[in-house]
Amino acid sequence: MRIVHLVSSGQLGGTEVSVIEMAVGVARAEPAWAVSATTPEHGMFERRLRQEGIDVGVRPFPPRFARIGETGHTRGGTAGLVLTLLAAAPGIAAYQRTLRASLVASSPDVLHVHGFKMQVLGALSMPPRASLVWHLHDYVSARPVSARLLRRLAPRVSLMLANSDSVGADMRRVCGTRVPIVTIYNGVDLDRFAPGGACLDLDALAGLPPATAGTLRIGLVGTFGLWKGHQTFLAAVARLETRQPIRAYVIGGGQYQTSGSQVSEASLRAEAARLGIADRIAFTGPVTDPAAAMRALDIVVHASTRPEPFGMVIAEAMGCGRAVVISGGGGAAELVTDGADGLTHRPGDDGDLAARLDRLIEDQALRARLGTAARSTAERRFDRTRLAGELVPLYRGLAR
Ligand code: GLC
Repeated sequence: MRIVHLVSSGQLGGTEVSVIEMAVGVARAEPAWAVSATTPEHGMFERRLRQEGIDVGVRPFPPRFARIGETGHTRGGTAGLVLTLLAAAPGIAAYQRTLRASLVASSPDVLHVHGFKMQVLGALSMPPRASLVWHLHDYVSARPVSARLLRRLAPRVSLMLANSDSVGADMRRVCGTRVPIVTIYNGVDLDRFAPGGACLDLDALAGLPPATAGTLRIGLVGTFGLWKGHQTFLAAVARLETRQPIRAYVIGGGQYQTSGSQVSEASLRAEAARLGIADRIAFTGPVTDPAAAMRALDIVVHASTRPEPFGMVIAEAMGCGRAVVISGGGGAAELVTDGADGLTHRPGDDGDLAARLDRLIEDQALRARLGTAARSTAERRFDRTRLAGELVPLYRGLAR
């Protein structure tokens, strides 16, 4: 059996991390199968897959197409986006022809495609005999142009997989019920994302002197996407009432090729200064070992202001046995049971987030109880071997 993953970005965002877990998990479960991936950029995704022994091809998008991103697109609204797409059309057509030629040559049984750009290109480039799987990682209804294109191409798809029930329901509203949609929760490497192991020196990374003994560490881990709630996090820190010493960490950085879709560290520093909390906030920049960063924290915060489709960071922090406070919208709300294995706050509500944080900061026993429960939830629901166990029979059914 040949499985080719097509991925829309080459950086290590949540989608790409989840694809690594799928590819590696299936390759280990079925050593006789050929699992490979194609990405439009050189970068961490490519390197990590190679380290794991997975074959990766890099096929750069035409530059105009690479820069288009529906979330960050503001100039001229939908009409502006359509015009930009039209301008990029000749490059896209040429890309699609070479993609198709390479797929015909590798002749996959299953084309497993992630991200809306590749989902459109993959559907237009299908080699004969292959089954097309669209793996949904985001809400398509929030992107009217992608939604139109996907609705039109959906009849070519054999199976849709969704990273949460919430994302699956969204696609059903867009595409109707003709194509089956199955929810498969993402997997995490629970040996790496484990409670024990190395801890990063976050203060040193941020260029700060070590925090005084007994300081509680609270961190927001993730990319600098506009909707990841960095402002909410800063505003919540400014509203904390606790008298315990705390230090808050912003861990991560920008990554996408698409324009206008992220916050900058400079703007967040300015915001912290405006809120009068510059001395409590540390910026570490991107880290290569997020597990070691999470283990250095007492509380891991997830603060997305829009519904989070899944939230890899949440599953990873739970694997590390941390107390998490998450934004309780979208698929993320399916990951945590409030009060049992984490706490949830209302998306974008910094007062609500501050209240949960105050409670956790004051109550060490609660932090410990939630952390232990989070680890067992992760073992039950987010283990990468469970993920492979669900994918293998689906691939078999499609290849028949
Ligand atoms: C996308 C989603 C994120 C999810 C990831 C993996 O990046 O925005 O919520 O965790 O895909 O499925």
